[in-house]
Amino acid sequence: MSADGKIAGPDRTQVSISSDEDKARAKGLRRKYDAILVGVGTVLADDPHLTLKDLDYDTNPIRIVLDPHGRTPDDALVLDERAPTIMVTLEDCDREWDCEETLRTGKDSIDLEAMLEELAEMGVENVLVEGGGRTIASFFEAGLVDRYTVFVGGLVIGGSGSPTPCDGDGWAAPGGVRMSLKDCEVLGNGALLTFEPAR
Ligand SMILES: NC(=O)c1ccc[n+]([C@@H]2O[C@H](COP(=O)([O-])OP(=O)(O)OC[C@H]3O[C@@H](n4cnc5c(N)ncnc54)[C@H](OP(=O)(O)O)[C@@H]3O)[C@@H](O)[C@H]2O)c1
Repeated sequence: MSADGKIAGPDRTQVSISSDEDKARAKGLRRKYDAILVGVGTVLADDPHLTLKDLDYDTNPIRIVLDPHGRTPDDALVLDERAPTIMVTLEDCDREWDCEETLRTGKDSIDLEAMLEELAEMGVENVLVEGGGRTIASFFEAGLVDRYTVFVGGLVIGGSGSPTPCDGDGWAAPGGVRMSLKDCEVLGNGALLTFEPAR
């Protein structure tokens, strides 16, 4: 995120925030996970590949998209041949995609706990949630965050409507999720902060 806590511009378009050192760190992080997950908002705004260029279909982490209402277009890059993709949608959404697997879970909202259980049965033991803000918020709301790492870069974006790392409805005071700072590292023109939920 930027120094003022934004993850994209006021028009929701992508902004380069990471230093070179953080870009290398983020690539290394992807290699450690069985799967990388984003919400459909990020697919529509950024059209990301979510792959590592030097890996292929068999070695890249699985890509997961939370898309309750089936809005991911067939030509989205996240559905290309560079890695397997699991689409996650609501029970009554009948949209089909040309992908490895489609999970249908939850009536009004995706049941994240049920999804993680199904993924574990498929051999996915850890998931890197890359965004956007509404998706990260839903994992915090469900109490399913083990670790939260955020790079704070030397850039101010501004805009009260610019997305932040944890959008959604928020928690009324004195609510919120208490976190313990576990690490703080300077990475070029910014800092990487690692938090874990306070127990
Ligand atoms: N700087 C960064 O590192 C970074 C990384 C990623 C994204 N971004 C930015 O973030 C912005 C997109 O964020 P966003 O919050 O709009 O989108 P998002 O979190 O990617 O996707 C949100 C949508 O995903 C679905 N969704 C997420 N969690 C769900 C759940 N638990 N149950 C049911 N549906 C769920 C909903 O779809 P429906 O609306 O269909 O209900 C929701 O509106 C873009 O501007 C992008 O550039 C920045």
